[in-house]
Amino acid sequence: MKDTANMKVRITDTTLRDAHQSLWATRMRTDDILKIAEKIDDAGYYSLECWGGATFDVCMRFLRENPWERLRQIKKVCRKTPLQMLLRGQNLLGYKHYPDDVVERFIALACENGMDIFRVFDALNDPRNLEQAIKCVKKYGGHAQGTISYTTSPVHTIDAYVSLAKEQVAMGVDTLCIKDMAGILTPGAARELVGALVKALPELPIQVHSHMTSGMAAAMYMAAVEAGAGCVDCAISTMSSFSSQPPTESVVAILESEGFDTGLDQKKLAEINAYFKGVKAKRQPVSSSKVEAVDAGVLVHAIPGGMISNLRSQLAQQDALDRLDEVLEELPKTRADLGYPPLVTPTSQIVGVQSVLNVLSGKRYSMVTDETKRYAAGYYGRTPAPIEPKLRKKLMGGLKPITCRPADLLKPGLVAAAAELPPNTIKAEEDILSYALFPEVALGYFKWRNADPSKREPIPADVEEAAQAVAPTQKPSAASADAKGSAPAAAVSGTPVLAPLNGTFYRSDAPGKPQMAADGATVKAGDAVCVVEAMKLFNPIKASASGRITFLVEHGKPVTKGQAIASIE
Ligand code: CO
Repeated sequence: MKDTANMKVRITDTTLRDAHQSLWATRMRTDDILKIAEKIDDAGYYSLECWGGATFDVCMRFLRENPWERLRQIKKVCRKTPLQMLLRGQNLLGYKHYPDDVVERFIALACENGMDIFRVFDALNDPRNLEQAIKCVKKYGGHAQGTISYTTSPVHTIDAYVSLAKEQVAMGVDTLCIKDMAGILTPGAARELVGALVKALPELPIQVHSHMTSGMAAAMYMAAVEAGAGCVDCAISTMSSFSSQPPTESVVAILESEGFDTGLDQKKLAEINAYFKGVKAKRQPVSSSKVEAVDAGVLVHAIPGGMISNLRSQLAQQDALDRLDEVLEELPKTRADLGYPPLVTPTSQIVGVQSVLNVLSGKRYSMVTDETKRYAAGYYGRTPAPIEPKLRKKLMGGLKPITCRPADLLKPGLVAAAAELPPNTIKAEEDILSYALFPEVALGYFKWRNADPSKREPIPADVEEAAQAVAPTQKPSAASADAKGSAPAAAVSGTPVLAPLNGTFYRSDAPGKPQMAADGATVKAGDAVCVVEAMKLFNPIKASASGRITFLVEHGKPVTKGQAIASIE
């Protein structure tokens, strides 16, 4: 038997990021965190994951908090344990590639405000998308953790993963994470993959990240650790399991029974856990308490937990929750068509929404989102396997394919972003970065922040309360629509342009960009004339006829499927 006495295995706590993102639609507040931060800092974790795309977005969008301020507040208390964040490579925290200057200033400010470890990943495992982020993390004194976004497909072989790791080592990463976002990594595959990495790169510390969605993660961690992984990601038990990470307390007990020392004390963990039981009572959405503990279906469909809950809420928004099974069946087909991308942000969003559209529209790829178009053309990076040429051409819809690093095509973005902001909107450079990453969301937050406190709308305690607050405006009854004087579909003269989905209506695809069609302009049938943002993606809406267009909905307002958003005469 192997002598494991005194072998150390460290644990990263994901409670403050991935756990509530996976279980509570990311609704943990800064206050919830600060009340327990000192105890967490004291527990002996390797690092505390507390920042990422969804936490940043939800802070501003729903909680009306400044995510930068959250980071500073946590850092003020957590002086011993490194803080960690998840960074989507050239996508930073968003869904598209940002210019290199935006990547650099974002990472510089994150370091300045207290971020220590940056787990840098790319959804397509395209090393060109990691380059600039890794370089900047090193430049500003951070710890760069490279990442393998784990998935299975005919092209995702052990050899391919080892050469991917070697490329990241050449870029200067300090450690490497195997990111199993779907919870599909089996103990056997983990042993093989970690073993191969340790053999090829003996100096490179390996960390493993997984989700309990399929129920395998704790057993997989044990196998990975035995093969040489030095750190695993866990969440405190109340915030663990289901689609979140394995429970810290259980993993500590498992590892210690095999002679590994985690440096964590069960008594301290119990105190932290008792606290989160209280937070859970306030923040856990009722719907998430109905989710099954183990979704064995993941072993069949390989879809990450967070993604399934997204699909569920996207279908609910479209009044089509009963079609979830069809979407789960469609999704692997769409993924294969698109060259087997790992399902992680933003590809999970692209593949997920495209699958939803393929099901709801009744004809596969008859509706293609802008994002799918750009993905097919190479704007997200190299697809793991090539897309079949005829389908690729159809998906690109007139876009020219690219072969270079996508960010090489981008002009510097910081000055332009600052210039777009209305006067007296922002207070610091960090606000420009927030705006560059999430323009509409940041503007909404700045407006809220700058408003008279007595006039601000209240912040819902959890997701259900938020849904109730939004529901009446998203589904206007005929009576309320009449009362506001807006035109119901039946009253439109000319040819109506109908919203194909429930979502938010935009007259342009991003603030500052020219409108696709001005009110009163003459348009041709088939021209993209406006946008409906649904499921976080922008769906260009085409003119239903040729003629003069009159918009019937205000920019930024919710629309429902089948509602007339414009009329063409
Ligand atoms: Co995760």
